[in-house]
Amino acid sequence: MTPAHGKKHEAGSHKLWGGRFSGGPHPALDAVNRSIAVDFRLWPHDVRLSKAWAAALAHAGVLTARERAQIAKGLDAVAARIADGEKPVATDEDVHTMIDRLLHEEAGAVASRLHTGRSRNDQVATATRLWTMETCDALDVLIVSLQRVMVAQAARLERSVMPAYTHLQRAQPVSGAHWMLSHFWPLQRDRERLAAARAHTASLPLGSGAIAGSAFPIARARLAKSLGFSTISQNSIDAVGDRDFIAEVLFTLALVGAHLSRLAEDLILFGSSEFAFVRYGDGFSTGSSMMPQKRNPDALELARGSSARMLGDLVALLATIKGLPSGYNKDLQEDKRTLFDAVDGMTLLLPAVAGSLEALTFDADRMKAAVTSTMMATDLADYLVRKRVTFREAHGAVGRLVREAEEKHCELGALPFASFRAAHAEFGTDVMLELSPLTSLGHREIEGGTGPNAVKRQLAAARAALRANI
Ligand code: ARG
Repeated sequence: MTPAHGKKHEAGSHKLWGGRFSGGPHPALDAVNRSIAVDFRLWPHDVRLSKAWAAALAHAGVLTARERAQIAKGLDAVAARIADGEKPVATDEDVHTMIDRLLHEEAGAVASRLHTGRSRNDQVATATRLWTMETCDALDVLIVSLQRVMVAQAARLERSVMPAYTHLQRAQPVSGAHWMLSHFWPLQRDRERLAAARAHTASLPLGSGAIAGSAFPIARARLAKSLGFSTISQNSIDAVGDRDFIAEVLFTLALVGAHLSRLAEDLILFGSSEFAFVRYGDGFSTGSSMMPQKRNPDALELARGSSARMLGDLVALLATIKGLPSGYNKDLQEDKRTLFDAVDGMTLLLPAVAGSLEALTFDADRMKAAVTSTMMATDLADYLVRKRVTFREAHGAVGRLVREAEEKHCELGALPFASFRAAHAEFGTDVMLELSPLTSLGHREIEGGTGPNAVKRQLAAARAALRANI
């Protein structure tokens, strides 16, 4: 649409400030100050909050109904133009300036009334919160998608058995489903953290003005409701300088990154020829330009690698906040760089990890073959404890058996019964049953344990967690 009222602003002339300055900013300041490349994506939220602000101004008697309607119509036209591919011009300092410029083109002089009682300080805080609320919802969907893949793989692995490792040494046998779900629950906690971060985000700063609060009688609670916020900020100084919500989201993402990284590390290890518990799907493997035999788990390695950047984003934001004087400071413009970087990274990562996991095939035979009878050493000690031997004494007796097996270069199960009897008089012939991994699993029906029924209940709990609202 061509400007209906007034002339198109000359490029370079549209600024939200500048009345008191004789010349424009030095190019070096301009270059460092310009944030539109980063904050452009806030435009739908800026348009939305601006429409709500116009409504609030009208409600407060600052705008007439007609002016409000002209501004609303103009903002719709601005949104349509940007959605159609309208690009920022060289002089648009940030997305708020760009929208203001376009609104002047669309609505004419009345556009100059919109910024009444508001500052970019409360405006950007509001737009960033709106974006963050929407993003938390989108991230939750992506996490759930990965969790669903985990549940599906766990169901497939329900009857499998594999070594669980401590210190990366074979420790005790567990069901494959139990291992798989050990990666499910951390993500469930992350979802709770994300929901908490979202709840803290849903506090409206708009109405705070630059620092002292708007001088017009804006019905803030009503404004909050119209924008989907659940509460309003209680202190305008705090509201314009508060980026805690970003820190909370970044912490959550850093932790999601750490969790994906640990899953990835397990799978990378399990995919090595030495383990060969898993085989990567074709769609999620890459080859080598030199070694024809290679099948590389790049997505998993990138999950491990890029979670480092999310951690960096969190640290950068915390360092930005620390030591700032109260109120808004331009340092805070850097907040979006960290937030968007972490969110963009995670948005790429979650589907790649979900896809990699979904395309994996587990080799149940290899997993089972890695369980040796020596891993049932604890079960042997528990066997003696059931015969009223103290655990300390039982541990010592089994330790001697393990040493004997080591000396003979065999596993515990290859020792003759006489050795068991010699190690402790309470060992009966039924002890050989204890050397079976399935017996070991069967002893662990405790809640949270790897017994077959306990894992069945755990799977049901995981499915229920995905159905429940957080
Ligand atoms: N682009 C700025 C930011 O992201 C908007 C706020 C500008 N406020 C100001 N007082 N210059 O923080």
